[in-house]
Amino acid sequence: MNPLCSSLLFLFCLTATAQGGAVLFQNVCAQCHGAVGEGREDLKTPSIASLPAWYVTTQLKNFHDGRRGGDTVVDPQGAMMAAIAKALNESQIAGVAAHVEALPLVPPKQRVLEGADVALGQELFYERCMECHRYNASGEMTFGSPPLVGRQGWYLLAQLKKFKNLHRGASKGDEKGAKMVDTATKFIEDEQAMKNVVGYILTLNPP
Ligand code: HEC
Ligand code: HEC
Repeated sequence: MNPLCSSLLFLFCLTATAQGGAVLFQNVCAQCHGAVGEGREDLKTPSIASLPAWYVTTQLKNFHDGRRGGDTVVDPQGAMMAAIAKALNESQIAGVAAHVEALPLVPPKQRVLEGADVALGQELFYERCMECHRYNASGEMTFGSPPLVGRQGWYLLAQLKKFKNLHRGASKGDEKGAKMVDTATKFIEDEQAMKNVVGYILTLNPP
């Protein structure tokens, strides 16, 4: 929170924080994540628009503290994001997270993943993913699981590979990430299974 806030009305400060978040978003985040947070395939940046503030905060702190994106060789995209997050303080993280949550969801343009067997993907999703990410992949704060709708297929696939290869979620202190490492290593057999489940998740996006 802005130090000035202690001497000002709380509500005014909340507004100021959200406004600060909007400015920070336009000045820093938009160049990589797009003007409305839609993501850019050429930069391998995910759509982040409408991600819940609690999840954005967790991830920015993970990047900031080196739990995610700590290795430039195996995870160059994560490392790119970590460099940005390290420059943010707690009040900037809170402000920008509030702004990201307020951005309207941008469903992925590409809703079909080549080579995916959607029926098999649905089966895997029902058996192994739904308990945490919910039947419509909308996520669940109490489990720390983010919504998977809105993210692009190539991004979801890249994250599943990272969890399975211990390039995300395997750092000390990353308890939420560890749940995904557990799922990916035990229950997602191979790249085909990953494609299938991502192909199914893409169908859950709103029209
Ligand atoms: C230099 C480019 C760049 C900038 C600037 C940038 N990001 Fe990122 N961001 C990335 C990349 C690349 C990824 C994907 C990392 C990965 O593949 O694991 C990412 C991932 C994220 C994620 C994780 C999303 C998820 O679903 O787990 C969040 C949240 C995020 N960025 C928020 C922000 C915010 C907020 C800002 C502005 C303060 C910002 N980013 C600025 C490149 C950038
Ligand atoms: C035990 C609960 C649990 C189960 C089961 C689970 N997840 Fe997750 N998932 C999580 C949590 C918690 C996170 C957030 C990890 C973090 O904070 O970095 C997550 C993150 C993810 C991400 C990263 C999203 C992003 O925006 O970067 C993907 C992709 C994902 N899960 C897919 C799946 C799929 C596919 C399955 C089923 C095969 C699955 N999950 C099963 C809890 C779970």
